[in-house]
Amino acid sequence: MSQERWTAVDRFISDLIVPSDPALDEALQRSAAAGLPPIAVSPPQGMLLNLLARIQGTRTALELGTLGGYSTIWLARALPAGGRVITLEANLEYAEVARVNIERAGLSDVVDLRVGPALELLPELAAEGCAPFDLIFIDADKQNTPAYFEWALRLTAAGSLIITDNVIRGGALIDAESDDPSSRGGRRLHELLAEESRVAATTIQTVGSKGYDGFTLALVQG
Ligand SMILES: C[S@@+](CC[C@H](N)C(=O)[O-])C[C@H]1O[C@@H](n2cnc3c(N)ncnc32)[C@H](O)[C@@H]1O
Repeated sequence: MSQERWTAVDRFISDLIVPSDPALDEALQRSAAAGLPPIAVSPPQGMLLNLLARIQGTRTALELGTLGGYSTIWLARALPAGGRVITLEANLEYAEVARVNIERAGLSDVVDLRVGPALELLPELAAEGCAPFDLIFIDADKQNTPAYFEWALRLTAAGSLIITDNVIRGGALIDAESDDPSSRGGRRLHELLAEESRVAATTIQTVGSKGYDGFTLALVQG
């Protein structure tokens, strides 16, 4: 199987069953035009985030890694009236693109976009009493994924979902000797999960327009 085939299948899925949303399409176009890297979740993955949030009844979500706001919009679209997404982005230029995309999607009142390194912003969120969040999506710098997961445990409660993206990295997850910080981050996450009784978790390998990767889904159980 090839990347070309995976991309074609993702397109088939998107064309037939992922609802079209001009604001999401335009968010991708505006992000590309502004020179942002093409590393947003794919449309089927965005729909998965949206479905998970709806299944879980998410009212409050926290996202680490906004980029152009594409996944932010998918999450925000899942929330009931009065729901809120806080999204953290370290890169000011990306955040400015995201702010426009979120505004064009009519979600400025739902999304609270904060700019800065997540490890600096997370203590502020805790101090503000924003927690617990119903859903946390970890999708920022991958070497800090273990630290983000530990923060996620502090900022959630029983019944919350923690979704961590890009943990497989073409299979590098199992390369114990890898010195790639991103791969090591995914591996360390799994070591933490192995010792963590507060969550039930699994990791699903995926292929698609974003290549061979995968995500970890963790349910906080107390
Ligand atoms: C994979 S992209 C996020 C994609 C986005 N969630 C989506 O699917 O549309 C990762 C983002 O994390 C941001 N990032 C990197 N380091 C960060 C940090 N320390 N704190 C917050 N954001 C960071 C990057 O600038 C980038 O925009």
